[in-house]
Amino acid sequence: MKISVLKDAAGHEARVAATPDTVKGYVASGHDVVVVKSAGAAADFSDAMYKDAGATIAATNAAAAKTADLVMSITGADAKLVAGMKKGAGITGVMSPTDNPKYAAACAKAGVTAFALDYIPRISRAQAMDVLSSQSNLSGYRAVVEAGGIYGRAFPMMMTAAGTIAPAKVFIMGVGVAGLQAIATARRLGAVTTATDVRPATKEQVASLGAKFIAVENDEFKAAETAGGYAKQMSPEYQKLQAELTASHVAKQDIVVTTALIPGRKAPILITKAMLDTMKPGSVLVDLAVERGGNVEGAKAGEIVTTKNGVHIVGHLNWPSRMAGDSSNMFARNLKNFLPLVTAEDGAYAPDWDDEIIQGCALTKDGAVVHERLKG
Ligand code: NAI
Repeated sequence: MKISVLKDAAGHEARVAATPDTVKGYVASGHDVVVVKSAGAAADFSDAMYKDAGATIAATNAAAAKTADLVMSITGADAKLVAGMKKGAGITGVMSPTDNPKYAAACAKAGVTAFALDYIPRISRAQAMDVLSSQSNLSGYRAVVEAGGIYGRAFPMMMTAAGTIAPAKVFIMGVGVAGLQAIATARRLGAVTTATDVRPATKEQVASLGAKFIAVENDEFKAAETAGGYAKQMSPEYQKLQAELTASHVAKQDIVVTTALIPGRKAPILITKAMLDTMKPGSVLVDLAVERGGNVEGAKAGEIVTTKNGVHIVGHLNWPSRMAGDSSNMFARNLKNFLPLVTAEDGAYAPDWDDEIIQGCALTKDGAVVHERLKG
């Protein structure tokens, strides 16, 4: 098949969906690969590296997409580009389909199959294709490193001739994929680390990373997990108890990283303005949920806000793009693992419509929007 790799531009994207390494593998398997000029430049993959891997370089996204069987991209590119693609071709990307329903409609109109990588079912066979996990892991790491850059003190305890430096106190709220890596990173740097989540299963995970678990562990907490392993919306009573516990804990923290999300809903507010007022000047909060409304009151998407009492709230968007080399490597490998599901034995592009992973992530088929979550 002919695979085209786009230069992703939306939201100043620095990542690229295929690396010289994965391209080399595709070419070795007999596929033709076209990479758009400077597609990997922001992730430190030069055009020369792609050429060495066996790709040809196209001048523009439109030129690369026009003749492709499968377009690889990080974000799915835009509706205009899709309109210029071959009928029956496929495109991959993190498409945030429910936020962006017009995109699926545009793909259907063009007769293009949209594979929303963010809809890949979270079953064990699909773990190696799970871009949400591979990218969240790096976001969690980067959140702690970035907080460390802003924080005016050290993470580890240091005993020096000039005196002792106390270790930083780091609190991670939400122990999904990003939260787990944030805990591990804070621990590696020597911080005194605590964490919380509403899913009881996380208690053991937090302890296994050497951090302390902080939560209201009542009956509601013990039942708070969906069959899919995600968080449930908690009752107002629970949220009140959680807020009280959080308030007393947060006042003593130097760095707080929030990652709490509930699929399909606005992120819950976990840190209120009143709690921010109790924090020490120079404390740093990183709100990884800012794209879904934020966990920290007053967090602003794309900005660092400093409160009157000198607390910094970091609301950067697109964290994986801040470490584009590794996040592209991981994303590209996820796609490499996905490719067999759209490849026939002779190497031609042919999605396996009987496969539950394809059914789970394909938004469109034969000119129609087919995904359950986008219908009606
Ligand atoms: P997410 O990004 O949807 O949410 C992050 C975390 O916030 C979750 O742990 C959630 O419980 C927590 N949270 C929600 N409301 C909260 C509140 N009010 N207070 C504190 N914490 C709150 O989660 P992510 O990272 O996508 O992972 C969710 C689950 O899916 C995890 O159990 C993870 O292990 C599982 N998973 C399974 C995979 C597989 O089997 N293939 C792959 C990836 C994740």
